[in-house]
Amino acid sequence: MVIHGGAGGAHWQMDDAKAAAYRAGLRAAYLAGEAVLAAGGAALDGCCAAIQVLEDDPLFNSGRGAALTAAGTVEHDAAVMTGDGRAGAVALSRHARHPVLLARAVRESDEVLIADPTGDFVAAYGLETCDNAWFATPERLERLAALRAGLPGAEPEVGFAANKHGTVGCVALDVLGHLAAATSTGGYDNKPVGRIGDTPIIGAGTYARDGVVAVSCTGRGESFIEGVVAHQVSARMELGGQDVVAAARTVIEREVTGRGTMGALIAVGATGDCVLAWDARTLLAAWRDGDTVRTHL
Ligand code: GLY
Repeated sequence: MVIHGGAGGAHWQMDDAKAAAYRAGLRAAYLAGEAVLAAGGAALDGCCAAIQVLEDDPLFNSGRGAALTAAGTVEHDAAVMTGDGRAGAVALSRHARHPVLLARAVRESDEVLIADPTGDFVAAYGLETCDNAWFATPERLERLAALRAGLPGAEPEVGFAANKHGTVGCVALDVLGHLAAATSTGGYDNKPVGRIGDTPIIGAGTYARDGVVAVSCTGRGESFIEGVVAHQVSARMELGGQDVVAAARTVIEREVTGRGTMGALIAVGATGDCVLAWDARTLLAAWRDGDTVRTHL
C-alpha cells in the first residue's frame, strides 16, 4: 500500500513543527489502512480507511480543511475503483463528511458518478452529513481572502503549488491479490464553482485493474483528464509491456511535464511493486519499508 497527500512545492517553507504534523498525519493514515489489509481486509477497505484519516486531518486538501471555491464553499471530488472493474465517484460533494465513503457507496449502486449529491442522498446511504461551512478551516478562509486581495505570495506558481493542491490518495494490493485505488480532494483554492477535476473521472485521476495496476493521481486535474493519466499507466503496462516504474515515469513525463504543469501519481502493480512518480517540487507520501513506515514531504 502507498498513500499520497498531494504534490507541490511548499515543503521547504514548513517549519519543523508543521513538517512533523504532516509526517504524523501521513503515518496515521498509512497505519489505519495497513491495519485493515493486515487483518485480511479488502484492498478497497484499506484504501478507504487510510483516506478517511486524511479527510479528517485539516492539514490535507480533502474533507475538513479542503480547498475553497471562489464562493468560499467546499466542493469535494472523490473516487474509488477496484481491480474487478467496478468504480464509484462523486463530484461537487458538499455534505458528506467523508466523500470517499460516498464514492464507495456509489460504487455499490447501479451508477458510477454522481454530481452535486444532496444531503438527503448522502444520508440515504447511512453516511454522516455536515454543514458545508464545517469543512472550511480558518487557514483556508485566510488563504482565500489573500488570493482575492491579490496579496504578494498568495498566487501559486504556474501549474500549482502544494498550498493550492494537496489531494489525497491510496493504492493497495490485498492478500487475495486484488487491487484498489481511492482519491479524494477539494480541488484548488479559489476554483470556480462547479469545476470538477480529475479525481472523480475514472481513468484520469483514479484507476485499478486486477493483474495490472492501481493508480491514484494528484496535481493539476485538467492535465490528468486530458492525458487520461491513470488509465494510460495501466494500458502501457498491460498492452505495452512496460513495468510499473517505466509506465508511471513515462506518463508523468508526457502528460504532466509535457503539458508544462506539475503533478504526481502513486501506483502499485499486481506483484506489489510500488512507485511514486512526480514532476513537482515534492510529493507528500507514505509507504512501508521493512519495519519502518517511511514518509516523504
Ligand atoms: N488533482 C485534483 C484536482 O485537480 O482537482
